[in-house]
Amino acid sequence: MKQNLLLLTTEQETKFTTFIEEFSLWNKTHNLISKGDSTDLWERHIYESVLLAQFFPKDAPILDIGSGNGFPGLILPLLGLTPHMCEIISKKASFLKYMLHHLHLPGKVLNEDVFGLKQRYAYFCARGFSALKNLLKVQHELSESRQHEDVQLLNVEEILVNKGHDFSKKIKNSNLLKSSAYGVYLKGPSFKDEIDDAKKVFSFDYLVFSVSEKNHIVVTFNVSPLLF
Ligand SMILES: C[S@@+](CC[C@H](N)C(=O)[O-])C[C@H]1O[C@@H](n2cnc3c(N)ncnc32)[C@H](O)[C@@H]1O
Repeated sequence: MKQNLLLLTTEQETKFTTFIEEFSLWNKTHNLISKGDSTDLWERHIYESVLLAQFFPKDAPILDIGSGNGFPGLILPLLGLTPHMCEIISKKASFLKYMLHHLHLPGKVLNEDVFGLKQRYAYFCARGFSALKNLLKVQHELSESRQHEDVQLLNVEEILVNKGHDFSKKIKNSNLLKSSAYGVYLKGPSFKDEIDDAKKVFSFDYLVFSVSEKNHIVVTFNVSPLLF
């Protein structure tokens, strides 16, 4: 089974299996993902969601922006995280609520326009929601105002070390330790253009983790609007 590649514990594997069964049932009647996509459930939707999840510390107040059918929003609680999932379409939000309830998962569904939210977060994630500049707008507006010392670092250090990077060198001159909020966004091949475009409106620091030619994880922090 593909999920073994993700090195899941037995308990997590059981939860994922139940998730797959339930998701596949709904997919038959509600076409959550296209037919061709269903064989890709593990390889694409779940795997990409797990990639994003690995960045977040336990107990992180995470907002998944535009959760849709639950990627990564519904995968995060399967891995012990407690996200808030924001989804504007009621039908999709109902599905997310049902899945949380039915699978006894932690988390909350916000059936609202993300640009109208009032609650603050320290961690943000998204897959396929919108251009990076729009994600940074949400990240900036909804970032907690608490001191950066209170916000636990992402697992970036561990990830860089695992990838063979000398983290101490990489972090030395960076502002990674000074941010009060982090965004972790899955982006496609146009990620560089999106970064350049976002730079026209925001000042921000970022790290890019290229997973494949198609998939790139952009981690953003220290976001502030450019003053004109
Ligand atoms: C392209 S889908 C991606 C869904 C999911 N993250 C995934 O990767 O499968 C984007 C989702 O964002 C939702 N959305 C769009 N604008 C929104 C807004 N302003 N507030 C909250 N959700 C929004 C859409 O309804 C849609 O379900």
